[in-house]
Amino acid sequence: MCTVASWFLVALGAIHSLHTYRPRIRSYILDFYAKQDYVKRLVYASDDTCIEQVRMNRTVFFKLCEMLQTLGELKSSRNMLVDEQVAMFLHIISHHLKNRVIKHHSNRSGETISRSFYNVLNSVIHLQDVLFKKAEPITANSTDPRWKWFKNCLDALDGTHIKIRVPTVDKPRYRTRKCDIAKNMLGVCTPDMQFVYVLPGWEGSVADGRVLRDAISRRYGLKVPHGCYYLVDAGYTNCEGFLTPFRGHHLNEWRQDYHPSTLKEFFNMKHASARNVIKRCFALLKLG
Ligand SMILES: *[C@@H]1O[C@H](CO)[C@@H](O)[C@H](O)[C@H]1NC(C)=O
Ligand SMILES: *[C@@H]1O[C@H](CO)[C@@H](O)[C@H](O)[C@H]1NC(C)=O
Ligand SMILES: *[C@@H]1O[C@H](CO)[C@@H](O)[C@H](O)[C@H]1NC(C)=O
Repeated sequence: MCTVASWFLVALGAIHSLHTYRPRIRSYILDFYAKQDYVKRLVYASDDTCIEQVRMNRTVFFKLCEMLQTLGELKSSRNMLVDEQVAMFLHIISHHLKNRVIKHHSNRSGETISRSFYNVLNSVIHLQDVLFKKAEPITANSTDPRWKWFKNCLDALDGTHIKIRVPTVDKPRYRTRKCDIAKNMLGVCTPDMQFVYVLPGWEGSVADGRVLRDAISRRYGLKVPHGCYYLVDAGYTNCEGFLTPFRGHHLNEWRQDYHPSTLKEFFNMKHASARNVIKRCFALLKLG
């Protein structure tokens, strides 16, 4: 009897220490194979599906889970481990999915899904100092063929239209010059294609310049440190902090054999080739 009792206690201790000792990541995989079919199909099946469903490969996914857990204080809940919460969160924001769709895929209650979504969101916000890219001016010794011409330039800035659906009464405000119903989003990105600022809320009928004025007048809005500037297209006003190309010197930046014949054309060509990064960022964003 005594032996059975002590064996029982030892077993209990072992189980307990198994629960308290969780080597990260590995434990996700083990637990998960036992019961988490949703994450398995979403993330662990292959890098290809992982990239399609949560927009990052498995290595990056693991790293994010670990960062959220250690720095962002995200915890496994009674119902869900960290990886499942993160996968669900990413799946929702990657594809703009509704709670009911996730409920169907994951066999979780709507409440659990909603709660874990906000847990992950809070944790991501915790991580902003680590994850958030900051604008850094181009230095005089830059060797980047596109950017070395623009000393002290911060980033490229532009506006884009994101199509949305709105009630009929609101449509006139959202109608763009091309007759789409859309929002006007301002975006700023670094030479290596990372967004550093976005202002997404304006109606499509509003001009880019108006959105920019709003962005810089906000308390936590776009900052222009002294002596630095952003590259903007000719739709904006050339002023301190915002450098436009010369007007009236249109050129076809895509022609390989193009040789500018004046200094202004040369400047515009370099300007367009650096600024083009923001167009590529918008294109990627819309592709997602
Ligand atoms: C995963 O993605 C990161 C960032 O895009 C990349 O550096 C890494 O090589 C990728 N890993 C694999 C195994 O594809
Ligand atoms: C999960 O699936 C089981 C069995 O298929 C079902 O009985 C249960 O109600 C489901 N739970 C949720 C929250 O959908
Ligand atoms: C370029 O100059 C900065 C200071 O302006 C310096 O910190 C950096 O190391 C230099 N980079 C190279 C590649 O020389």
